[in-house]
Amino acid sequence: MDVRLVCVVAAVVALCGGCGETAVVGARDQEDEGQLWAVLVAGSTGWFNYRHQADVCHAYQILRQHGVPDDHIIVMMMDDIVNSLMNPKPGKLMNRPDGPDVYQGVPKDYTGDDVTPENFLKVLAGDTEGLMGVGSGKVLGSGPNDRVFINLVDHGGPGIFGFPKTFLHARAFVSALTKMHRNKQYKEMTIYLESCNSGSMFKTLPNDIEVYGVSASNATQTSSACYWEEKMQTFLGDVFSVKWMEDTDRENVGQETLETQFFLVRNETNTSIVTQWGQKSLDDLKVGDFLGDGNVVGGNTEPMERFDDACLKSAVSSVDVPVKILEHLVQATVAQPEQYYWLQQLHHLHLNRSLVTQRMLDITRAVTKDEMVAQNMIKDQHHHINHHHCFERSTDTFNRICFNFGMNPYALTVVNAIVNLCEHGYTADEFITAATTVCRDGTITGIN
Ligand SMILES: *[C@@H]1O[C@H](CO)[C@@H](O)[C@H](O)[C@H]1NC(C)=O
Ligand SMILES: *[C@@H]1O[C@H](CO)[C@@H](O)[C@H](O)[C@H]1NC(C)=O
Ligand SMILES: *[C@@H]1O[C@H](CO)[C@@H](O)[C@H](O)[C@H]1NC(C)=O
Ligand SMILES: *[C@@H]1O[C@H](CO)[C@@H](O)[C@H](O)[C@H]1NC(C)=O
Repeated sequence: MDVRLVCVVAAVVALCGGCGETAVVGARDQEDEGQLWAVLVAGSTGWFNYRHQADVCHAYQILRQHGVPDDHIIVMMMDDIVNSLMNPKPGKLMNRPDGPDVYQGVPKDYTGDDVTPENFLKVLAGDTEGLMGVGSGKVLGSGPNDRVFINLVDHGGPGIFGFPKTFLHARAFVSALTKMHRNKQYKEMTIYLESCNSGSMFKTLPNDIEVYGVSASNATQTSSACYWEEKMQTFLGDVFSVKWMEDTDRENVGQETLETQFFLVRNETNTSIVTQWGQKSLDDLKVGDFLGDGNVVGGNTEPMERFDDACLKSAVSSVDVPVKILEHLVQATVAQPEQYYWLQQLHHLHLNRSLVTQRMLDITRAVTKDEMVAQNMIKDQHHHINHHHCFERSTDTFNRICFNFGMNPYALTVVNAIVNLCEHGYTADEFITAATTVCRDGTITGIN
């Protein structure tokens, strides 16, 4: 071939850098296109919670496949599943039964004890100094022309997103985003958040800071796990996460808008109300603008399994997951001693759970000094958080001296009582005094 011809071909390819669907994100963003950055967080630990890390690893595979380079993707997860003794496929994670391994190549930026809300907020702030010597030290390096995608998956409660040992308050999260906007750390941002009460994390998100959020559930309801795997004795995914990622795998995300994906995922997720937050007008952007659109060649023609949907058919509320797993284990065992063991575990799980509820009831009794009112504080799921200061001080205390939320995820189900007390005018001081009297037996862990 003539040398000049080669040059012409090369020039045409270069000119076409921004228009090809197969263009790699990192490569095509010269001028104002900007670059794509992503932060992926699974906040839980333990085999019961296999699905959270599987979801986040799947999200990583999507970004990678679409050409987003590793140095623009920051992953935070415990990383205690893949080599767990429970894992029949050591070194592998699946996000659906018989699905591909989603663990391969996942960067171990922050694992184990480094998975904390403080480190997460530093990653968002681009605080290289603050993370020096911690994990990979990788932080968001995005600027005013860049797009940022954040995916958070874990247990949650009203105004709370869990981490393995502590938790993130909604207000701290939103104020970190607001600060990023002030510091011109992004042009636009999309956040997909899966947890119980996930909507409550977005309640105070402003609608003018170029942040668009989607939550798995509204502010007051649970989200759901799905894809029960008999051989592995756990759930492999969560409904909202599975739905948005399987849609992303299926579609041409260079053309599909966030709005189209939202309605589709909301329609398919019949276990909770998938909800949009923040600057909803951003939903006319393409899914590929946030998840990469390299290597996308066209819509997948695989039919959707609407009426025989293995995810939906096996879906259970996230709160019921530990019970379901133990019930399955009881059913699956034939040998008497082993079955007896699992029955005992199930029994203890229920005892453990009633201890949490009992403690919260004792606290509400001590605060309200009225049995009826105390009972209602526990039952009522209705309120939204307005008294943030009271709520934050009280939950911090409950987490510190009664039940650590990260290590006792079930305790998140009684946080609504704290919301209710604060909204009914009881003070954090009253709560703290009562909790100090009721919770005297030191650190309890393992109440799922
Ligand atoms: C949230 O979902 C629950 C059902 O789980 C429903 O009762 C409640 O009205 C919903 N709230 C909003 C604001 O949609
Ligand atoms: C929602 O799902 C139902 C079937 O489950 C389908 O008939 C309907 O067209 C869907 N709506 C949208 C907006 O996708
Ligand atoms: C959701 O849809 C699936 C499949 O169509 C169905 O089996 C399941 O019962 C539905 N769940 C709810 C809560 O409606
Ligand atoms: C019950 O709680 C204790 C801690 O109080 C924990 O060690 C144990 O594993 C829990 N058992 C079950 C079955 O959840």
